[in-house]
Amino acid sequence: MLDVCGVAMNYRLIIINNCLRVRLLCRNCSYNLYVRMKNDPIGVALQDYLAGTEDAEIIVESNLAEDDVIPVQYLFRKEEEMPEMELLALENCRGQVLDVGAGSGCHALALQRQKISVTALDKSAGAVEAMQRQGVEHVLHKDLFDIQGAKYDTLLMLMNGIGIAGTLAGLERFLEHAKQLLKSGGQILLESSDILYMFEEEDGSVTLDLNAGYYGEVKYNMKYKDQESGWFNWLFIDPAILEDYATEHGYTFVMLQQGDAGNYLAKLSLP
Ligand SMILES: C[S@@+](CC[C@H](N)C(=O)[O-])C[C@H]1O[C@@H](n2cnc3c(N)ncnc32)[C@H](O)[C@@H]1O
Repeated sequence: MLDVCGVAMNYRLIIINNCLRVRLLCRNCSYNLYVRMKNDPIGVALQDYLAGTEDAEIIVESNLAEDDVIPVQYLFRKEEEMPEMELLALENCRGQVLDVGAGSGCHALALQRQKISVTALDKSAGAVEAMQRQGVEHVLHKDLFDIQGAKYDTLLMLMNGIGIAGTLAGLERFLEHAKQLLKSGGQILLESSDILYMFEEEDGSVTLDLNAGYYGEVKYNMKYKDQESGWFNWLFIDPAILEDYATEHGYTFVMLQQGDAGNYLAKLSLP
């Protein structure tokens, strides 16, 4: 690449606060070129909410159902607004906790208030900034699958958090990766749902396309203003299959609570 002054250039790519910074360098000069990335709908929506847009909504497209919305306000829920199942998960947290896919940091803040040591992890730059602005003390801006070296007693995965695994194959990868992140005797507290009811016909029968893979492997695309995540996999898993996979990978499965919409809170423990 040649500069305007005709000298060969190098370039460096840096991502800061969801901006791609391209730094062009030559012997005589350097330019910074900022390109705003548009793939962080959750992060930008969280920022907008903090700036006063209280009715912000994230649009959720899926391959299963009509478009849905996530009211951003819900992501900022206080303890008194949290479902009983989430409060039970918080009660079960022990030792050093990693809040995986922490979003606005609502659970991390609740644990912090209880003097429980917690690190809030999110791959969204906007979410990380929102958590810092709200006073979450330990925040990690990373993809869960890129973390290495750190060891925790509890991985907390709420709001169908195990969905991050994406697919059944991804679940196997996750269960192995989690062993690197957990101390011995460590635990994963996770929420998921059995979504078989979504395939029920009016007469109560269930129609499944057996060539389409596991019915809980869903595809989502999230949108907020000019931001779009792009299609990604999200896993909903029925508890019996989760127990099989967990046991196969050396975890003990305990059901902590079941809700009335197929949703549940489970604990997977390592010896
Ligand atoms: C639906 S939000 C849930 C936020 C929060 N746990 C709650 O209950 O309000 C899911 C979050 O997970 C984050 N996330 C998704 N995949 C991730 C990954 N592989 N590593 C880290 N964070 C991830 C997203 O950026 C998003 O903020």
